Amino acid sequence: TDRYCVFGHPVAHSKSPAIHAAFAEQTGEAIAYTAIEAPLDDFAGAWRRFVAEGGRGANVTVPFKEEAFRLCDTLSQRARRAGAVNTLILGGNGQTYGDTTDGVGLVRDLKRHGVSLAGARVLVLGAGGAVRGVLEPLLAEAPGSLLVANRTAEKAERLAADFDDLGEIAGGGFDAVAGPFDLVINGTSASLAGDLPPLPDGLFAKVATAYDMMYGADPTVFLRWAAERGARPVDGLGMLVEQAAESFFQWRGKRPDTAPVLARLREAL
Ligand code: ATR
Repeated sequence: TDRYCVFGHPVAHSKSPAIHAAFAEQTGEAIAYTAIEAPLDDFAGAWRRFVAEGGRGANVTVPFKEEAFRLCDTLSQRARRAGAVNTLILGGNGQTYGDTTDGVGLVRDLKRHGVSLAGARVLVLGAGGAVRGVLEPLLAEAPGSLLVANRTAEKAERLAADFDDLGEIAGGGFDAVAGPFDLVINGTSASLAGDLPPLPDGLFAKVATAYDMMYGADPTVFLRWAAERGARPVDGLGMLVEQAAESFFQWRGKRPDTAPVLARLREAL
């Protein structure tokens, strides 16, 4: 049995062990997947110990994604851009390879919801690590325009500059936001505090999707606000399952069917 885990702090609430247990059962892969709370001051040590005990790979969540990035011997192109890693893979040579599957997870979930990104007018709210991690896969879908808007405008401007060789991207403050958009993605952590970024009316096109990277039993403030303005609300539970499926694929070479796993998680929220 090959060992995998998710590292976080805290990590007890993580849904990843349940998701990967379901993937393993579905694909017949003999793996054990647990949650490990790494010490805040020694993530690298926690990974080394896990490897010494037979660990083959791991997911990495808050607050260790940047530290995981730094300890990798080699990185995927998209992880290098993201500056963060959510998937660690132990190579046969004992080297650690890092990838980030969050952006692919988001794009797959959007497609599952029938959102077509090519040519679309896209607004992304937030300019932290969560947003940096998804920009390359989003731009690879060739949206017509992608505006990154953030409370701290300079952070959005810097982010846009870091990615502008990949496509049509601009950054600014919330006051620079003028609709309509076909897709608005909330990548701020404002939802956690029940806050809503200050957004203008007329944000959404006639047919538009509002996507929150957060999820919960109840819709976030952002999704409620968007639904009241005619946009279709979608939360980030599907992104969670899709990024897990991509990690599983990186480790095991098999693509699990995400639909039944997502349905079960949704019921249990
Ligand atoms: P994460 O890893 O989740 O991206 P982060 O890097 O700390 O976390 O980024 C948090 C993001 O949420 C930032 O874009 C932050 O805006 P600032 O850069 O201006 O701080 C945004 N954010 C957090 N709380 C917010 C709020 N109440 N209203 C609007 N934006 C908020």
